[in-house]
Amino acid sequence: MIHLPGKTALLTAAAFASTLALAAPMAARAQTDASAGQEQFKKLWLGSAWYPEQWPEERWAEDLRLMKAQGANVARIGEFAWSRMEPREGEYDMGWLVRAVRLAAKYNIKIVIGTPTDTPPAWMTQKYPEVLRIDGDGKRLGHGGRRQFSISSQRYREFSRDIVSRMAEALGHEPNVVGWQIGNEYTDESYDPDAKAAWIAWLKQRYATLDKLNEAWTTAYWSQTYSTWDQVPFNTEKGNPGLMLEQKRFITSQWVDFQKNQLDAIRAKASPTQFITTNLGGLGWANKFDRYAINRDLDFSSWDNYVGTGHLQPYRNGATHDLVRGWKRRNFWVMEIQPGFVNWAPVSNMLYPGETRAMAWQAIGHGADGILYWQWRNALNGQETMHGSILGPDGKPLPVYGEVSQIGRELAKASPVIAGTHPVSPVAILQDYPSRWAIDFQLHHKDYDQIAVLLDYYKPLKDALGAVDIVEAAGPGPLAGYKLVVAPSLNVITDETAAKLAAYVRGGGHLILGPRSGMKDGFNRLDPKRQPGPLADLLGGQVEQFYALDETVAVDGGSAKIWAEDLSTRAPDTQVLLRYGKANGWLDGHPAAITRQVGKGSITYVGALVDEAVMKGLIDKALAGANVARDITLPADVELMTRAGKGRSIVILINHGRERRSVTLPQAMTDILAGGSRTEVTLEAEGVAVLQRAVK
Ligand code: GAL
Repeated sequence: MIHLPGKTALLTAAAFASTLALAAPMAARAQTDASAGQEQFKKLWLGSAWYPEQWPEERWAEDLRLMKAQGANVARIGEFAWSRMEPREGEYDMGWLVRAVRLAAKYNIKIVIGTPTDTPPAWMTQKYPEVLRIDGDGKRLGHGGRRQFSISSQRYREFSRDIVSRMAEALGHEPNVVGWQIGNEYTDESYDPDAKAAWIAWLKQRYATLDKLNEAWTTAYWSQTYSTWDQVPFNTEKGNPGLMLEQKRFITSQWVDFQKNQLDAIRAKASPTQFITTNLGGLGWANKFDRYAINRDLDFSSWDNYVGTGHLQPYRNGATHDLVRGWKRRNFWVMEIQPGFVNWAPVSNMLYPGETRAMAWQAIGHGADGILYWQWRNALNGQETMHGSILGPDGKPLPVYGEVSQIGRELAKASPVIAGTHPVSPVAILQDYPSRWAIDFQLHHKDYDQIAVLLDYYKPLKDALGAVDIVEAAGPGPLAGYKLVVAPSLNVITDETAAKLAAYVRGGGHLILGPRSGMKDGFNRLDPKRQPGPLADLLGGQVEQFYALDETVAVDGGSAKIWAEDLSTRAPDTQVLLRYGKANGWLDGHPAAITRQVGKGSITYVGALVDEAVMKGLIDKALAGANVARDITLPADVELMTRAGKGRSIVILINHGRERRSVTLPQAMTDILAGGSRTEVTLEAEGVAVLQRAVK
């Protein structure tokens, strides 16, 4: 048997089911209170990315004074400063870093140390060009930018281990260092000779024989059969979807190893009280590698939250925070957030007054415990001189300083009440990277956007509940505590994942599968069973045919577009929930959604991308069936977020709109920011209220 990635793949279906049974009594909450004991979750953190290496040392104290005055309690330093730490090969200077860390301690600013592996120094790239990345077109990158290193180069791994060990020696026991960030926004893999050798070794380890690989990828197709390992392609050209899925898993493993190389170096020398994380970029949803796998070895997740052009999109941005919280099912940090505007968007506009504050509170409402602005002060030259920052080139506060200072004052007030709490949801949305990749490789309709599909489900759930979890479909994370689980695009369903989902339904859970579910197995092969493949028997129905739509089709109560599947029922107790109306001829009058009660649970398959009204109807029905409701009624534009912890219940309300809005509360609540107790809250545009609700 060939093992698919992930721990659970190593278990038989029976062993897997018993793992679930053991896990079942545990609530499937976003996290347990155990994490509350760790430094990163003990209070709310506010700070920015600070680059002392870009400024004369005499200036540092003034920077720290201004940070302190702003209410900051943390700064991140070091992540691009390799040429300052090792100016020439083998010559190290950690003294300035230690001095910066110790000076910050005088201002009660804790430090996160970034490892500098995103930007190798020029002496290295000149003398050892093999550390430079080769891109998918076979071009080796040059010096002068960043991310030009190879994640697979053994030489680069050695240099990285060396510099990080020396940093850990110098800083691993500095009491003012709270933790570490490895690298910066992992982005591009490399196609150099070391990477190719690692690819072949990875395939050999995974498949053992070429016969197995040939079979799994159906290489009889187009004469793709391989008779030696080095014939297997390794590039970014469109290839066999089985190969492409494996290449993504391989790239993931390269990033995991690249990260572990540094992680081990830090853990060997640093105090275990110092956390280790990394700041994931790509606006959260990027899928160049599997982000669950990357986060597995880290203490907690962090991400970089940017708006770019325009303004905060509350659902999309909120869902991204939820995705990040789901990577480890625990609270997280926003390691970078924009101070007003960026420099890389088509229009790098400023956020509205108050929107920077609303953005910070939205992050906290979704489970962030740390918010760090990028960046404190722009370098006087370099690629990012036009980016928003907190100080100007004169070293004095820019207009946004005042708003960040307001956040500082508010976090100081709210921290004692909020720290140790986390969002708790009775509902989870499932996603995973193999399905993301598999659909993207064979899109079939140019407008099939999986994030948009996920958000179609997310929106009514968020409106109805305030908190929604987004978690990994595969893997050991339990589902049993959720009343409703929605899998909008689970294209790849392995037997292990199917067993997990089936156990959830049989245990009384309510599962909704979206279109394209269960079409492929773990090798990205068509499942010989019709969709939803290994769950078709439980559903008592299947997909007869899928259709990419070039026109909108009618369904009961509304319409569907982009994608529609013709469903059929096989079991007598499988019911039709929705039917197509006048459609493309093939679909007319056929089932668009079917459902089956399984004990106290149920499994539902929705085969089309339905409009907002139809979706709301489906979700309302599902929530009623799962017996889930909330008691606060919201006006337009107002977002509700909730966090809970031992004996505490927090309600955060944000008005993302441009008009004043009022919210009537179901009971009197303590106003943490303004003081007093209230039964109604009025929010101006971008207004925020943070409330504490008595716990029964
Ligand atoms: C991030 C990056 C930062 C900075 C920022 C600008 O992607 O991690 O170093 O470049 O973008 O928005």
